[in-house]
Amino acid sequence: MKILVIHGPNLNMLGKREPAHYGMETMEDINRQMAEKGLQIGMALDFFQSNHEGRIVDTIQSAYGQYDGLIINPAAYTHTSLAIRDALLLLDIPVIEVHLSNIYKREPFRHHSVIADVVSGQITGFGGNGYLLAMDAVFQMKRQ
Ligand code: DQA
Repeated sequence: MKILVIHGPNLNMLGKREPAHYGMETMEDINRQMAEKGLQIGMALDFFQSNHEGRIVDTIQSAYGQYDGLIINPAAYTHTSLAIRDALLLLDIPVIEVHLSNIYKREPFRHHSVIADVVSGQITGFGGNGYLLAMDAVFQMKRQ
């Protein structure tokens, strides 16, 4: 099973960035834990991070026909990017939206995700563990 993981803008600064919201784990820590879990459950993972909306769109497009699932934290683009939403509509695979913080417990402008209604499901508020839960979600969906 081949899964693509996309981290949106500023997630490359995890560990330094607003630890009260995002914890002390770095993006590399999260990727390493995912890769280790992947080895255990037979899931190969590719990781991509960008601060640029168009690059994220390009990467989603290039995932077409190449992956069995997508795990994506679009970060701030969650709340604004119709381009990312439209690109996701291209894919016919499980797509799990992840947020480290619980976006519904934060400022009102974070309560709306423009991708929530086009993804398979959303995991929000479990820190880095949310990405591991997302792997379980994809795994279960593919087994059904
Ligand atoms: C985030 C929540 C977003 O509102 C924010 O812009 C982020 C990270 C999260 O993982 O909690 O950059 O997606």
